[in-house]
Amino acid sequence: MSSFQSIEKQVALVTGAGSGIGLSVARQFSAEGVRVALLDTVSGKLDEAATSLKGECLKVVADVSSETDVQAAVTKTKSTFGQIDIVVNAAGIAGITNATIENIPTDNFIKVFQVNLLGSFNIAKAVLPSMKERNYGRILLIASIAGKEGNAGMASYSATKAGVIGLAKAIGKEYAETGITINSLAPAVIKTPIHDTIPQDQIDYMTEKIPMKRCGDLEEIVSAIRFIVSPENSFTTGFCYDLSGGRATY
Ligand SMILES: NC(=O)c1ccc[n+]([C@@H]2O[C@H](COP(=O)([O-])OP(=O)(O)OC[C@H]3O[C@@H](n4cnc5c(N)ncnc54)[C@H](O)[C@@H]3O)[C@@H](O)[C@H]2O)c1
Repeated sequence: MSSFQSIEKQVALVTGAGSGIGLSVARQFSAEGVRVALLDTVSGKLDEAATSLKGECLKVVADVSSETDVQAAVTKTKSTFGQIDIVVNAAGIAGITNATIENIPTDNFIKVFQVNLLGSFNIAKAVLPSMKERNYGRILLIASIAGKEGNAGMASYSATKAGVIGLAKAIGKEYAETGITINSLAPAVIKTPIHDTIPQDQIDYMTEKIPMKRCGDLEEIVSAIRFIVSPENSFTTGFCYDLSGGRATY
């Protein structure tokens, strides 16, 4: 491809947009003239997020683990903005951590699975039909280095994030002959409010494994995401991008 469309005036659906990575990427999109649908379970967070955005946006209270919610969110985004060009699925939870598998209640594992992996499945499944019609789309599922390496004390999180990486690999290939790319991203530790839900010992364990000996910051992840979902990034699909300060070796 020799000429690329501009990201300006595109439409992005960002999940987990009320906090952390989703919120930061939504702000970046908005600053560049992208119309953004902000999806989160917590309406108060969406109100705050919306006021911090520069351009047009839509607030959608929805739970990514509910197929009905996600289908409705996609319908609402399309009826408001006419199309969806970009999806960044940043909704995610850590669940119980700093605990061995014997100490993880099965219902907590199921909850983490429902949000992290079933949520990624629901989002991709819901947006692909309209992207296929337009023969264009960029889907990015936020996974984690935990999905590649496995973090002790984080069995549910690691397993579901490994699933997200596998999901992107499979569906990336399914749509490879269209103009749609589907990738995942595996960050190491980025300081966001998700850390309020994780014991400090677990955060120290993860941070010590990073060869750069520091956490990533939001600016670094936003810049990676901005590139991955850009029109110019057109020859990579089904891939798991790295953002791990040297921890990932493949
Ligand atoms: N921060 C890190 O160190 C790190 C590292 C690797 C991967 N990740 C992943 O990045 C993504 C974003 O994490 P973050 O650090 O910004 O966390 P965060 O807690 O700051 O933000 C996550 C947002 O997702 C929302 N959310 C949770 N469950 C939801 C659901 N069922 N439906 C819709 N929204 C829901 C929350 O309300 C919250 O606003 C997550 O998938 C996380 O696993 C984070």
